[in-house]
Amino acid sequence: MSALPPQPFATPELPAIPARLVERLADAGNIVVFTGAGVSAESGIATFRQPVTGLWSRYNAAMLATPAAFDADPGLVWGWYEWRRAAILAAAPNAGHRAIATLARLLPRVTVVTQNVDDLHERAGNPSVVHLHGRLDAARCRRCAHPFTHAGPPLDIPEGGDRRDPPACDRCGAPVRPGVVWFGESLPGDAWEHAMALATQGGVFLTVGTSALVYPAAELPQVAARHGALVVQVNPEPTPLDAVADISLQGPAGLVLPALLEAVQRRPRPAGRR
Ligand code: OAD
Repeated sequence: MSALPPQPFATPELPAIPARLVERLADAGNIVVFTGAGVSAESGIATFRQPVTGLWSRYNAAMLATPAAFDADPGLVWGWYEWRRAAILAAAPNAGHRAIATLARLLPRVTVVTQNVDDLHERAGNPSVVHLHGRLDAARCRRCAHPFTHAGPPLDIPEGGDRRDPPACDRCGAPVRPGVVWFGESLPGDAWEHAMALATQGGVFLTVGTSALVYPAAELPQVAARHGALVVQVNPEPTPLDAVADISLQGPAGLVLPALLEAVQRRPRPAGRR
């Protein structure tokens, strides 16, 4: 008999969920789920730094993701972010987002802190998410910061966007800018302070789908580790967090997180405890 032909898609092997992680999740007074672009990858939203498919492998961040880039060519930048807004509107939460939302219902001490500018955690059922890098649907005036409400989804937008003039602020008339944090800008102070406070409270710090290369957000797992949290990483690829994490669950979030949720749901409860 000849050998079977290679399978076109390898089924990723599911890492075992360690019992000590399930125990810590059940008992922790503070659980942070810290997510990056990888948690939305299985919804069809591109990550940033993956070779070939990552946005920063295909587009020039210096021309699209700085305040100077917007001032130099507002139409180019607005059109590119409108393309991304359209992609997010067309996407749906995946099994990873849903498992996080269910975990947060089961264990009320869960806070989701995300670097993502999409709203897929919210649409999966996490109502109060800490957004460190802003939100694509929260545009505001470049000059006076007055909020802008999009009338609807962007229409007829090609892959990668096209040049589109940003709308004018209805308070001061200056161009409206995307609601995301660009390179060289500070993170929203309230979101950052909240995330940092959580990182110093111990418990479990679960990072999902981030390359952990962008600071200051990438400090959070390190701070959590220094403050005694059990740091757990979910990612199919190696990252600098391998050196920080107590447990690395190597695999896609859409497989690993439902398995983690199932392990938490199956955990036998000690007699006398509800
Ligand atoms: P990156 O693109 O840097 O990293 C994405 C990570 O997700 C990589 O480590 C992948 O291996 C991992 N990944 C891919 N598919 C996955 C899956 N199915 N399940 C789990 N993990 C998966 O994205 P971020 O770390 O989020 O800034 O990047 C940080 C910031 O850089 C972003 O917030 C963005 C960007 O410039 C702003 O938008 C302001």
